[in-house]
Amino acid sequence: MRLTTRSMTDASELSLQLDSTLQELPVWELEIEQHLPGNTLLRLFEQEPLLPGIILIQNQEFVGMISRRRFFEYMSRPYSLGLFSLRPIANLYTFLQTQLCIFSEDTLIVAANQLALKRSPELVYEPILVKSKSGNYGIVDFHQLLLANAQIHALTLTQLQRVEEQSQLAKAGFRDLKQNYSRLLQNEKMAALGQLVAGIAHEVNNPINFIAGNLVHATNYIHDLLNVISLYRQHYPEAVAEIETAIAQTDLDFITEDIPKLLTSMQTGCERIEEIVRSLRNFSRLDESARKTVNIHEGIDSTLLILHSRLKNHKTDQSISIIKEYGNLPPVDCYPGLLNQVFMNLLANAIDALEAGIGNGELAVGKESHCITESGLSNGKRLRPQILIQTTITDEQQVMIRIADNGPGIPEDVQQRMFDPFFTTKPVGQGTGLGLSICYQIIVEKHGGQLSCVSTVGQGTELIIKLPVTALR
Ligand SMILES: Nc1ncnc2c1ncn2[C@@H]1O[C@H](COP(=O)(O)OP(=O)(O)OP(=O)(O)O)[C@@H](O)[C@H]1O
Ligand SMILES: [Mg+2]
Repeated sequence: MRLTTRSMTDASELSLQLDSTLQELPVWELEIEQHLPGNTLLRLFEQEPLLPGIILIQNQEFVGMISRRRFFEYMSRPYSLGLFSLRPIANLYTFLQTQLCIFSEDTLIVAANQLALKRSPELVYEPILVKSKSGNYGIVDFHQLLLANAQIHALTLTQLQRVEEQSQLAKAGFRDLKQNYSRLLQNEKMAALGQLVAGIAHEVNNPINFIAGNLVHATNYIHDLLNVISLYRQHYPEAVAEIETAIAQTDLDFITEDIPKLLTSMQTGCERIEEIVRSLRNFSRLDESARKTVNIHEGIDSTLLILHSRLKNHKTDQSISIIKEYGNLPPVDCYPGLLNQVFMNLLANAIDALEAGIGNGELAVGKESHCITESGLSNGKRLRPQILIQTTITDEQQVMIRIADNGPGIPEDVQQRMFDPFFTTKPVGQGTGLGLSICYQIIVEKHGGQLSCVSTVGQGTELIIKLPVTALR
């Protein structure tokens, strides 16, 4: 007779894993030669109240197993004890003839549990037999198997929960990543645009200085020359025939009269180019990371200048009118390069919207006087596309910039999502959906301001920026 137990710990105290096998469970290994009398079993079961069963052997070879339950069940019948207590256990075993449930020791606890539960109802609580690689048999109490299974079940739930939490974290991480990426992308886009604009401004600046500088001298020289000619004509009214012909052929009188106008318009042209160069430089503000105290209106104006060519709809030949209502703003401490990005995005959105169609109503917030109607259309009055830019200083000392268009407006469901990165209603290739999310970051996160939208379908849209006069960060 041999009694060994590998571990008598209760299964509920074991630290099991999802892939734990039967090896890890407490196993009883009590073997008894089957030629011994039946009352040996009785003694053993009484000595060891937790013993679930005893393995029967013959000449060291495995024969079967008698469980505590089956044994006492049978012994409680009349005459059983008398009949079998002195006879060999082998006799009793042939009477009991139970079906054995044998698993190899590397069977998963969960799998063994599943199969063991499929046994017929009268056998379902029988202990199971575990066969080791070396061919030894052990007995596992079914109760312990159930406990282990319950523990693994709980573990599975915890791990599932953890996986879910991790996937939530991963999702949040992905969102952050996407946001960072969008910020980088937009910054790069703007930096590239800024560099291009700055480059052009620089290239144009030199030749225009050259022209503008010389134009002053040219004007003086021409005036002098015209003076000399006029003096000649005064003192020599009768010139030789060749000169008279040349005067007639060149229409000297007309030239004399026209040249000052021509010079003035060249001068105006030069001034206009110089102004454009100044605006381009202002817009590009390559030092955009620097904080500065600036005039907000300059930023809006230079952005409008950049967008100038987009204000005319070449298909319908109808221009978008820009109405400026600038208030008396103090200089604002801000990141001017970034604010220009915001004006650019908001104005570009308004232009896109107006190109897509115009609402039937008046400017969302504009005054009646701004609504220029176009008569002569058979179906009544029609509005002209317009963008109204208003700036004011609020009572809370905040600078408020409102950009309104009388485009088609934004439906409620789009309004909910328009500030989300990558949200766009524009066709693929036309919109990245980054514009407004970047604006939001710049205004709210970078300047501690507010960005909101008021829109009515069919009337138009207004984007409202509020900035503290001194940027928070
Ligand atoms: N003034 C507006 N009128 C109507 N819809 C607008 C207006 N401004 C924004 N939207 C809506 O909000 C969406 C998101 O705007 P956002 O500027 O973020 O992206 P986008 O203009 O589509 O693309 P991107 O600016 O990156 O080229 C637009 O696709 C459009 O549907
Ligand atoms: Mg946009």
